[in-house]
Amino acid sequence: MFNLENFDIKLETDIIGRNFIYCDEIISTNSELLSNKQLYKKSGTVLLAEKQLKGKGRKDRTWQSAKGLNLTFSILLKKDIAAALNVNHLNLVASLAVALAIENLYQLRTELKWPNDVLINGKKVAGILIETNIKGSNIERVVIGIGINLNQLVFQGEYNFPPTSLKLETGVNVERETILAEVLNIFEELMINLKKEPGSILADWRSKCKMIGDKITITDGEQSKKGIFYDIDDDGYLLLKRNDVIEKIHFGDVSLH
Ligand code: BTN
Repeated sequence: MFNLENFDIKLETDIIGRNFIYCDEIISTNSELLSNKQLYKKSGTVLLAEKQLKGKGRKDRTWQSAKGLNLTFSILLKKDIAAALNVNHLNLVASLAVALAIENLYQLRTELKWPNDVLINGKKVAGILIETNIKGSNIERVVIGIGINLNQLVFQGEYNFPPTSLKLETGVNVERETILAEVLNIFEELMINLKKEPGSILADWRSKCKMIGDKITITDGEQSKKGIFYDIDDDGYLLLKRNDVIEKIHFGDVSLH
């Protein structure tokens, strides 16, 4: 069970998570917050599900997570907050918030993999999927979906990247309320900072992405490109250097070669 009181004591935010909804089973926390506009009207709403029946991953993959052991949740930002923010930057903020929360609480070293995976010892511990509702050229709703593997020990099925969990890395059970509150506290702090100093978020993200400077392959469906991971640009896109030409990459999976 998720102890709401314990979570609430640790939550230090003004907006994020102040409207908190806990549910047992749902199709996908992202789909629910994105499509059910009448029910979820407040920026900062967080929906946590013990089990997603069709959890979504990036690039139409599924996100598999054992019931009650991990964290699968989404944060809603409506246009009152989202309009002033760059969605790509929110991707960086979300992955940084998860990475920093893990480091603060468990003294583990984390690494970020473009665009937004969180790794420990070269394995994926968390993934992020941001989805938007756009009307004309205006953002109506942004949903930041976060899956973090905490106490799951066995991962069956197919994964595009080797998975791990905090329990596999530390050997101890992780208190879900504590890490959720820490992620949301840091997320809000970074989001406020993003408005003032986007450059510092980009710099923090770069410092945790160890692949910058490495030879990589970017794969998008059937297409793949090899080159050097030169940098991320100010919008968070990957810059790939090939034959002295720098190409901006919007989508794809990065692997080392
Ligand atoms: C990825 O790495 O492919 C992204 C995974 C995102 C998973 C989370 S779990 C909560 C939220 N709801 C979903 O359906 N997906 C995201």
